[in-house]
Amino acid sequence: MDSFLIHGGSRLKGKIEISGSKNSALPILAACLMAEGKTTLKGVPRLSDIDSMNKLIGELGCHVYRHEGSPSVVDGPNLNGPLEITVNDESQCEARYDIVKTMRASICVLGPLLAKRKKAIVSLPGGCAIGDRPVDLHVRGLQKLGAEFRIENGNVIGEVRGRLKGCKMYLGGAQGPTVLGTINVMCAAALAEGETVLVGAACEPEVLDCAELLIKMGAKIKGHGTPEIRIEGVDRLVGCEHRIIPDRIETGTFMIAAAITNGELELKNCNMDHLISVTDRLDEVGVSTHRQNGTIFVNSARRLNPVEMTTQPFPGFPTDLQAQLMALLCLSDGMSVITERIFPDRFLHVGELNRMGASVRKEGATAIIHGVQQLKGAQIMASDLRASAALVLAALAAKGTTRIDRVYHIDRGYEKIEQKLNAVGAHIERIKEKH
Ligand code: EPZ
Repeated sequence: MDSFLIHGGSRLKGKIEISGSKNSALPILAACLMAEGKTTLKGVPRLSDIDSMNKLIGELGCHVYRHEGSPSVVDGPNLNGPLEITVNDESQCEARYDIVKTMRASICVLGPLLAKRKKAIVSLPGGCAIGDRPVDLHVRGLQKLGAEFRIENGNVIGEVRGRLKGCKMYLGGAQGPTVLGTINVMCAAALAEGETVLVGAACEPEVLDCAELLIKMGAKIKGHGTPEIRIEGVDRLVGCEHRIIPDRIETGTFMIAAAITNGELELKNCNMDHLISVTDRLDEVGVSTHRQNGTIFVNSARRLNPVEMTTQPFPGFPTDLQAQLMALLCLSDGMSVITERIFPDRFLHVGELNRMGASVRKEGATAIIHGVQQLKGAQIMASDLRASAALVLAALAAKGTTRIDRVYHIDRGYEKIEQKLNAVGAHIERIKEKH
């Protein structure tokens, strides 16, 4: 497992190009299982989670081919050409534990497989570092469309007799709407008979992006981006061309990187509308952001104000940026309070930040952060994707050198993070695992 050695203290300055959204690309790749002919996706980032999803849909009969890309603005040659996905064989219906255990988003094949192939066997994902993460809402929604489920040997096995049938249903759960659950049911409903109305649907930009893809494939969907999505089922979907939206979480992470290093970054290929609650919070902290077309300019005041923040479904502050904001607030002038409403246990970064000299106390789903003058380099461990990003940010600001072990977590969701940050003045070395 690779590690990062980060020499902190440099002020970041320059341009970073934002990649396509991982969390949009993953369910969209799964949705391609439903299309006849070739689908071409632009802006799919090169990440280990994307490799896992490509492997999964490959096992499910898709041919996946990556074109070479044109050079990027920031760092020359770019291998991120469009991805072409063609379904060649529809006989396989199983997502094996080997893949599902490395990537929970594998659950996204459930709806598409049931709608198109009438059968799906998906290994149950189980818990992960950020909490329990059940899939009951996915299953309940698909059951309402007529699929039958049983659990056998750790797999959820779904079957459809005849065709799925549209209906009106409530999709929310105890913690609010479900992003991938909404996408799973929306995909299945696109090929169901009659109209489906999803009430309590997730409004995240990734749901909207997948709906836009399905519409290009021939689906009839209205209301996506609102809590009530209406889907009129069609008989078939055909391949199309689609560009994945920019990664709002990568954008937010780099906005905080500018702030924590007292730097000045120009983030290219962004959608600021997807970050309205983030810019609002950062503004209160004392970080200034403004946009010009697809570029966000970020710079930060020397003093950081403490704030209170609660994670919420979109358009609220995203749980996927909670850890990164916490890293920033560790250096603010006073006491901040962060409450985690989506994944109440998502606080594994607290202990590691404290090892770097932060002063964070956890009380249930709330963290109380007393700002300190300085963070100090230490040997720490990455525990999940966003927690790892927070540790990288803390290390960029810390005095001395930080070693972060197990950075494979970060490779799952941040494309070329050390190259991107080094190009704007960071000092990050990757130490390759010795075999
Ligand atoms: C997506 O996960 C993202 N993953 C997560 O990103 C993100 O943190 C999360 O949405 C919330 O925004 C991908 O897009 C691949 P949910 P998802 O279903 O859809 C509960 C990252 O770091 N729930 O919206 O799986 C659940 O426990 C990640 O990139 C049920 O109770 O999350 C949580 O409390 C990690 N039953 C809440 O709903 C269900 O069946 C919201 O989770 C499903 C969810």
